[in-house]
Amino acid sequence: MFNSVEFPIVTFASSNLHKFTEIKEIFIQKTSIKLDHLNISLLEIQSASLEEVAAFSLNECVRNTDKDLIFVEDSGLFIDCLNGFPGPYSAFILNTIGLNGILSLLNNVPNRKSIFQSTIALKFQNQTKIFTGQVNGKIAMQISDFGWGYDPIFIPDCDGKRTFGELGDKKNEISHRFIAVGKLIEFLNNQLHLVK
Ligand code: IMP
Repeated sequence: MFNSVEFPIVTFASSNLHKFTEIKEIFIQKTSIKLDHLNISLLEIQSASLEEVAAFSLNECVRNTDKDLIFVEDSGLFIDCLNGFPGPYSAFILNTIGLNGILSLLNNVPNRKSIFQSTIALKFQNQTKIFTGQVNGKIAMQISDFGWGYDPIFIPDCDGKRTFGELGDKKNEISHRFIAVGKLIEFLNNQLHLVK
């Protein structure tokens, strides 16, 4: 049990500052647990499952640090008419064919449904805990001006018109990451007997 002056610190390991900024904001809103950032490039295995990718990265990370409360996050965009591609290969595809390449693959395709998924792997008392968040949406017809990664082409169903990028700060109140981080925080608050 932690008292008001002694709050636990949980470390997020990632080289992606966008992710850290979003997750930090959610922590500030939802918990007294402090978030630390370990800026590290994680080794990602090739696997069809984001859970496996995240769990592997976490174990690699734990091997290289003395932090006992640490998590990683892996995201993927699953496009329905491409049978879930790029999914776990989202980073590679963004770096190779890019957003224009994705739009070309969907040229004249009416079904633009897709799912953005965030998977968190947390090391807690030597066990790996997985938390997942998903948002249903569709791929835009063109690239919008704002946002990072796939934000300029992903339109969440709950808005239906604007991309994650165009939603600005509101993205972080509805995103796949917001849902996964919410589950992580609920778990930590319960396990560490904390309330906001
Ligand atoms: P990662 O493997 O979790 O780093 O993410 C896979 C790919 O999706 C990378 O190219 C990221 O830039 C991108 N990505 C991850 N999360 C988001 C997001 O919230 N918005 C837009 N792109 C994202």
